[in-house]
Amino acid sequence: MKAIAAAPGKVILAGEHFVVYGEPAIVMAVDCFANVIVEHRHDKCFYIKSDLGFSGFYSKERFKPESGGIEARTLLEPIRISAQAAIDRINNPTGLNITIKSEIPVAAGLGSSGALAVATVAAVGKLFNVNFTNEELFNLSFRAERFVHKKPSGVDQAIAINGGLIVFQKEKGVTPLNVISEIPIVIGNTGEPRKTGDLVNAVKKRRERFPQILASLIKAAGQLTTDAIKALKSCDLERLGELMSINHGLLVSIGVANKTLDKYVHAALEAGALGAKLTGAGGGGCMVALTTLNNSENIADAIRKVGGEPIIAKKIEEGVKTWTQ
Ligand code: PMV
Repeated sequence: MKAIAAAPGKVILAGEHFVVYGEPAIVMAVDCFANVIVEHRHDKCFYIKSDLGFSGFYSKERFKPESGGIEARTLLEPIRISAQAAIDRINNPTGLNITIKSEIPVAAGLGSSGALAVATVAAVGKLFNVNFTNEELFNLSFRAERFVHKKPSGVDQAIAINGGLIVFQKEKGVTPLNVISEIPIVIGNTGEPRKTGDLVNAVKKRRERFPQILASLIKAAGQLTTDAIKALKSCDLERLGELMSINHGLLVSIGVANKTLDKYVHAALEAGALGAKLTGAGGGGCMVALTTLNNSENIADAIRKVGGEPIIAKKIEEGVKTWTQ
């Protein structure tokens, strides 16, 4: 028997980085998925194979690469950590074959590692017929997220588990946002990989150098997200768009934008986007533009013309789901 889990990627509409300092973030699950397939092995090894061309065997924590060389370990380790966390919780030491098939671009700010960690834990649960609660899924997948991002807020797993549109705040956790209106977005992928942990650390250092200024920016971001929640609730997409553009300015101020992201943001705004900002950790990765349904193609063209890979994305209501085959 195979157990399969699919968890969605995400865009952050407001509040990334500031969420690390306790402010709220608005996050939307989008229609690209990390899929994890697990099956039993008769030894106690984990064999992990990713569609990125990396594979290898773990015997306890000893790793033997099969393809992708030594780099395979860095990429597969979060999957091992997630699977091990689930196996420990189920208390049934067994081997697993784990196959990864992900549509979410890696290191691009679309929540690939969070979705993979959640899908791995959920798939192992399904294989053993154990229904993890959302809280268990969050805690078990957080180990891998800590390994990858050092001090993450938890926002990526939260959305992969819940789906839909949520407000995430470290202290309060997840609050679903029920919004009737469509939220048409176009993502622009720079194709420039970066590490979330490094960017979070760079912000921390800037905050240490300029504590008062950063305190004001963090407070402003909190207010901005609160206003954006109100705009969403009243389906005022124009106001939401303007707030997203202001949010980009705040992200520029804390040092996480770059030339390419700025270029795509301006291209989207010139093509009529209601607002645009980088999304996720920045420093490369992706930006997101809020648009109207009939202008999505124009915005996508504008992003393509300045060198980006546009993705017209849709909100996904469901969080991680599992099934057997
Ligand atoms: O890993 P990314 O690029 O999706 O960014 C996660 C959001 C941050 O706020 C930058 C970090 C965090 O842990 O919340």
